[in-house]
Amino acid sequence: MMKYGMAQKFVPEAAELCENSLKKFISLIGTVDKLLVISGAGISTESVPGIPDYRSKDVGLYARIAHKPIYFQDYMRSNRCRQRYWSRNFLAWPRFGQAAPNINHYALSKWEASDRFQWLITQNVDGLHLKAGSKMVTELHGSALQVKCTTCDYIESRQTYQDRLDYANPGFKEEHVAPGELAPDGDIILPLGTEKGFQIPECPSCGGLMKTDVTFFGENVNMDKVNFCYEKVNECDGILSLGTSLAVLSGFRFIHHANMKKKPIFIVNIGPTRADHMATMKLDYKISDVLKEM
Ligand SMILES: NC(=O)c1ccc[n+]([C@@H]2O[C@H](COP(=O)([O-])OP(=O)(O)OC[C@H]3O[C@@H](n4cnc5c(N)ncnc54)[C@H](O)[C@@H]3O)[C@@H](O)[C@H]2O)c1
Ligand SMILES: [Zn+2]
Repeated sequence: MMKYGMAQKFVPEAAELCENSLKKFISLIGTVDKLLVISGAGISTESVPGIPDYRSKDVGLYARIAHKPIYFQDYMRSNRCRQRYWSRNFLAWPRFGQAAPNINHYALSKWEASDRFQWLITQNVDGLHLKAGSKMVTELHGSALQVKCTTCDYIESRQTYQDRLDYANPGFKEEHVAPGELAPDGDIILPLGTEKGFQIPECPSCGGLMKTDVTFFGENVNMDKVNFCYEKVNECDGILSLGTSLAVLSGFRFIHHANMKKKPIFIVNIGPTRADHMATMKLDYKISDVLKEM
């Protein structure tokens, strides 16, 4: 039986809370009529069990291990690559699938009752906003909670696919239990070669290649989704960005667009973001410390 190392704390060190700044931030946001929210990995680090982000100082995945995300083209082209992806994802799923929403996700789902809440765009694939009851939300990069055929678009739940993976690979999870290092995309680290012989069930409808319904590196985000989000940006009166470094262009472009349209931008993020210079105001605080006051 193999066990792999584990990290527990995923919330980075925040700046010291200043009541005056917090009050000012909240009162400025209070002047925005229709508020669009953009969330990123930082909103899920406070969950128990937590999901790490990539870029936070000390506790983000990039600070801890040499994580190489899978590329879409490699996934489509190489069976070995798919075996690596699914063997790891298979072992990580019991933990990733159990991650529960935290007070941040619940706070945002409650905001839907207000006329001033316009929409939520999340870059996360953990499905936690939906689990917390949010409906006015676009999962920009898809959801790790479902698996889709790359040929016919047949969709099944990640749990159903997990059962099929389990059936196709008897004894695998017993041999490699309690995987340690959980990556933000539901990946874990396994010694190279563990994936050898791993069986990947095909689409039950057409025999095609199944893939988690998330946008991989090197893959384009669905254009209908992108255009829909641009519309939301056009319609809003201001943006609140929560827990994202905005390093990925896919999310940053909406902030950039809002900035071009001279809409106020508010940021809560521990550590720098790509849009700090565009912000009307930014707080380097833990998201929950801000949301619980709003
Ligand atoms: N949970 C998920 O589904 C998940 C997690 C990581 C990455 N991803 C994917 O990878 C991409 C990564 O981009 P990203 O910008 O979302 O992640 P990122 O790691 O680049 O940035 C996260 C930021 O949040 C900050 N942060 C962490 N916890 C915080 C907290 N509690 N309060 C305030 N700030 C906090 C970090 O310091 C960091 O700057 C996304 O596009 C997404 O698709 C998804
Ligand atoms: Zn199919």
